[in-house]
Amino acid sequence: MAKIYNWGILAPGNIAGKFVTELKDLETARVMAVGSRDLPRAAAFAETHGIERSYGSYEALVLDPDIDVIYIASPHVFHAEHTKLCLRHKKAVLCEKAFGMSSLEVADMVETARVEKVFLMEAFMTPHQPSYQEARRIIESGLLGEIRHLHGWFGFNRSPYDVSRRLFNPKLGGGALLDIGLYPLFDALWFMGEPIQTEAFADLTDLGIDQSVTASMLFNGGKTATIFASFFSAVGVGTDIYCEKGALRLRRTSTLDQWLEILLPGEPVKTIHYEQSSCGLKMEAAEVMKCLGENRLESAVMSHQSSLLLSDCLDQIRKIAGINYQ
Ligand SMILES: NC(=O)c1ccc[n+]([C@@H]2O[C@H](COP(=O)([O-])OP(=O)(O)OC[C@H]3O[C@@H](n4cnc5c(N)ncnc54)[C@H](OP(=O)(O)O)[C@@H]3O)[C@@H](O)[C@H]2O)c1
Repeated sequence: MAKIYNWGILAPGNIAGKFVTELKDLETARVMAVGSRDLPRAAAFAETHGIERSYGSYEALVLDPDIDVIYIASPHVFHAEHTKLCLRHKKAVLCEKAFGMSSLEVADMVETARVEKVFLMEAFMTPHQPSYQEARRIIESGLLGEIRHLHGWFGFNRSPYDVSRRLFNPKLGGGALLDIGLYPLFDALWFMGEPIQTEAFADLTDLGIDQSVTASMLFNGGKTATIFASFFSAVGVGTDIYCEKGALRLRRTSTLDQWLEILLPGEPVKTIHYEQSSCGLKMEAAEVMKCLGENRLESAVMSHQSSLLLSDCLDQIRKIAGINYQ
């Protein structure tokens, strides 16, 4: 009989609710407990989602001996602290993006997982999604030749600027780069590796965080990438990959409705549509449980190295663009 993994939810906010809803589709997952800074909030979340146990602190959650794995959904500024709390109590961790506030924090989280010999993965949906896996297969097949340039964007309009919201609050790690800019950045790194040169600009709020950000990167072999992210531009989400013999377009109107277009000169555009019942959260959870079943300490789909490279490039963009979270 397949092992059932008992999940704990740390910080029951917006995305935690979506995660728990998706987890109900996985037969080997049971959400056993939720921990909040506030017991009534944990109890209300538990009631809404039919969760057996609720705790009024994160410390109480990690002390529950029946929990195998914890999903961390606090604001990014607390991810390192909460991840280390879980790992030191021998709980496997799936932690939301942005994994940490800096590459130093991410390196510390990864090192703690290594020392404690406990599984750790960043909850980053992109590499689990079928459209991305197919795009990578097409690129690796050579059908389109080498990549020459990638342009990725992610934007929505959250005006007016309101510092009381997490997205605009520097103390909670607000700003477009860490919230949404990391998606097109990840695409550039996933398809082209590590950049050798980066330029970046940001439209900063009066508190020094980016309400819009753009970066250009140069990779080995003269390949280039540009990314754009914004809380003030309803541009949607997409990535175009320009290759020697054609192009790929990755698109989504929402995280559930995705498609991939393959463009070859002189041929009709080929479109592959993906209508999913998941924005990727349950795919991430399934990958965690697969790895735990194989006694692995990290995932090959979203490896520690991927998280380290991503955080290192985020650091560079932040520094060059003058973004300041404190
Ligand atoms: N993968 C995705 O698609 C996706 C989508 C959205 C967000 N995220 C990520 O998930 C994380 C949470 O985002 P969210 O939109 O769910 O945020 P949210 O609705 O504001 O929830 C965050 C939760 O963190 C807890 N928390 C702990 N300390 C806090 C503090 N000082 N201020 C505010 N909340 C605090 C709160 O729960 P208690 O106080 O009850 O413990 C709160 O409910 C972020 O890192 C974000 O980037 C990922």
